[in-house]
Amino acid sequence: MKTLVVMNEKGGVGKTTLVAHASWYFAERHRTLAIDLDQQANLTSTLGAQVGSVDSVALFAQVTRVPSLGDLTVTRSTRDLLGVESVDRACIETFRDSLGCMGDDYDACVIDTPPALSNRTFAALLAADAVLAPIGINDYSIQGVAELLRAIKGVCSHYGRAEPQFLGLLPSIFDRKSRREREMFEDLAGQVGQLLFPGIVAKRDSYARAASEGAPVWRLKGASARQAGQEIRTVFGAVQTLMEFKP
Ligand SMILES: Nc1ncnc2c1ncn2[C@@H]1O[C@H](COP(=O)(O)OP(=O)(O)OP(=O)(O)O)[C@@H](O)[C@H]1O
Ligand SMILES: [Mg+2]
Repeated sequence: MKTLVVMNEKGGVGKTTLVAHASWYFAERHRTLAIDLDQQANLTSTLGAQVGSVDSVALFAQVTRVPSLGDLTVTRSTRDLLGVESVDRACIETFRDSLGCMGDDYDACVIDTPPALSNRTFAALLAADAVLAPIGINDYSIQGVAELLRAIKGVCSHYGRAEPQFLGLLPSIFDRKSRREREMFEDLAGQVGQLLFPGIVAKRDSYARAASEGAPVWRLKGASARQAGQEIRTVFGAVQTLMEFKP
């Protein structure tokens, strides 16, 4: 099983939208587990039809396996995930071990994290094979990049593990029509070009529809949704190649 963690301490940058679409995309070819670690439960509601019998919080309490529902299985977010922030940090390793014991049950695991550098985010990083960091094209997001990279390094050195593959910063709600965003994107490429993911996700209304209809943009009607579908599938095709998933 290969585990992709989508993280950024910043809120509203498109983490959950990416995780939902990555889950649908991977599930076309791989036995996929999606884990919702955010108590806001947005992923749980978007992927509601595939929610299985295990709540995400159980993965922290003791080493737990999630029975597969088929192509895609989701662990549900509940408010008691907040309790993970106040208990012994041993739960971070328990979460890693829960994922470790499912290595043969699933091919792909995608984890949605809360907008905070919390125990849950550290646990996801400890279990990660690869990390993707969606960003907004604005000053605040860009200022947060150093902190994000420090968190990844910090967790790995604390637990003595090699760093996961950093797939890059992905502009995930990119407004191509905005001159300011286009200019900031050029600046960003000049400053941290080597950290950028090779692709972008453009701002499109169809993503809100995808969330409310519980279906990926590529299954929605309309030309804009079709374009969104092509764009985001290209992104996940690149993720799949970078993570060296078996075809
Ligand atoms: N490419 C996009 N184009 C237009 N809207 C988008 C796009 N991606 C996400 N959104 C919208 O932006 C909002 C925030 O997205 P999302 O919930 O995925 O972000 P998040 O990083 O998970 O937020 P949080 O930090 O609160 O968990 C949602 O309303 C979502 O529908
Ligand atoms: Mg979210």
